[in-house]
Amino acid sequence: MSQLKELLTEEMSGLLDAETQLTEALPKMAEAAHHPKLKEAFEKHLIQTQGHVERLREAFQALGEEPESEPCKAMQGLIEEGQTIIQDGAEKEALAADLALIAAAQKIEHYEIASYGTVRGLARQVGLYDCARLLSRTLGEEESADFLLTAISDPIVQQLALDDMGAQVNLDKGELDKGERRTPSSSARKTSKAQRGAA
Ligand SMILES: [Fe+2]
Ligand SMILES: [Fe+2]
Repeated sequence: MSQLKELLTEEMSGLLDAETQLTEALPKMAEAAHHPKLKEAFEKHLIQTQGHVERLREAFQALGEEPESEPCKAMQGLIEEGQTIIQDGAEKEALAADLALIAAAQKIEHYEIASYGTVRGLARQVGLYDCARLLSRTLGEEESADFLLTAISDPIVQQLALDDMGAQVNLDKGELDKGERRTPSSSARKTSKAQRGAA
């Protein structure tokens, strides 16, 4: 096997493990998300991610190799960071918790975008165009997922900026109310603060 093809196979083995880890992490991220659009984005990307696992298996076939997965420590670390953010989010207001969750999710997508860019380039270089086409389709879905997360985070950032200024403006009232703007713990904190003020 050529050195380039060997590197391609190794990189794809890491990706197979990374995608498999994500099929277990994304349902937890969807569960932790407050904003309905964010929840929906994670649920939709879970279905895509299950497809990414299958597509990688097809890409291995196009290589003429058996699909093998190698532990991906980078994805393990990114997912662990996501879990910490989910735990910390329980103490935060819903919008701030969602924004932290989006930050973790975008780091994951960027890792995938970098990895698929590399393997697609390697596949093209060794003339494995069927394999490259499969990897390219997944790369496109990772880029779309990242783009969607940015689109969801923009109004949240604006709303948090307004909240920080003390402005009584709700940019996306319907959606945010559906997703419960404030976590129970933060509402309780605010109530007790108000009660203390009144006493
Ligand atoms: Fe993926
Ligand atoms: Fe992804």
